[in-house]
Amino acid sequence: MPSELEQLKKFTIVVADTADFGLLAQYKPEDATTNPSLVLAGSQLPQYAHLMTEAIEFAKAHIGKYAKFYNSEKHEENVLALAVDKLTVSFGLEILKVVPGRVSTEVDAKLSFDKEKMIQKAHLLIQLYEEAGIKRDRIYIKLASTWEGIQAGRELEKEHICCNLTLLFSFAQAVACAQAHVSLISPFVGRILDWYKKAEPAKADSFVGAADPGVISVTKIYNYYKQHGYKTIVMGASFRNVTEITELAGCDKLTISPALLGELAKGEGTLSRKLDPAHLTQKSAKLPELSQADFLFMHNEEAMAVEKLAEGIRNFHKDTVKLEAAIKEKM
Ligand SMILES: *[C@@H]1O[C@H](CO)[C@@H](O)[C@H](O)[C@H]1NC(C)=O
Ligand SMILES: *[C@@H]1O[C@H](CO)[C@@H](O)[C@H](O)[C@H]1NC(C)=O
Repeated sequence: MPSELEQLKKFTIVVADTADFGLLAQYKPEDATTNPSLVLAGSQLPQYAHLMTEAIEFAKAHIGKYAKFYNSEKHEENVLALAVDKLTVSFGLEILKVVPGRVSTEVDAKLSFDKEKMIQKAHLLIQLYEEAGIKRDRIYIKLASTWEGIQAGRELEKEHICCNLTLLFSFAQAVACAQAHVSLISPFVGRILDWYKKAEPAKADSFVGAADPGVISVTKIYNYYKQHGYKTIVMGASFRNVTEITELAGCDKLTISPALLGELAKGEGTLSRKLDPAHLTQKSAKLPELSQADFLFMHNEEAMAVEKLAEGIRNFHKDTVKLEAAIKEKM
């Protein structure tokens, strides 16, 4: 009997949710991701400490060349910002040495409500990668799924810059992403469960298996996309439990932490496919193209999603601030 992990891999692309280089080499995922907290943690490892020093030198020497991307009045602030971007790309390049697919690179969450600035940051990141010899077909630009983030994704996709729309919690966000033709969404299954457990403690014990609100949310999105022929890849992320994963067996991609990958590799149960385009478990009418107002209203109806998106942006930004502080100290 193959392990549960082997069985899962038959109908889902499994991605290791780690940027730990040792673990990446061990699990050999197709794609991987980077973000400010992973970059900061990486820079503190002795073998990668030089990347930070080099990013600072690079920023000091070349800020003039990238001037159009940075608009603070203060020279030092622009240098710092370029050092952050350069370091982020340096870690992306390290990850690309290990994974065959793409690396997701995050646009600073501070820009999440400014479409033009997100596009500009994406252009800069792509330019830095291309100057290092990596083409855009190895990159996902990671954007928060605000209305502006989704519309930035729409524009970037036209230039063949693929986007990973993250902090996705509501059906409205998923519909808008499909309509914007973004390449990939990563709905956060476990964070949805966390919210419902806290909001409805009396029901917490019933949130298991197919009744887990995170599982319900991703199942609905998957069915809607497949029913209406949307190409956007659904990649479930942030799992609290092996059950949350097995309930989503069949999803296009799932990104799984090393601990849960280990559990699945040991699991001996029989895994059945739950999400399957040939057997959609629910159908619903296709929604018309959403306007910004439609989107905001529909998203606002899901209290969980409103809070989780807002919190996610705050926390992503906090991580950027920490990374900036660490670089500033070295300057
Ligand atoms: C997309 O972003 C999510 C959230 O940060 C991440 O977990 C996932 O690995 C990314 N997906 C890919 C394919 O890089
Ligand atoms: C987590 O998984 C275990 C078994 O894998 C199960 O007993 C438990 O109920 C699950 N919890 C949730 C919240 O799904």
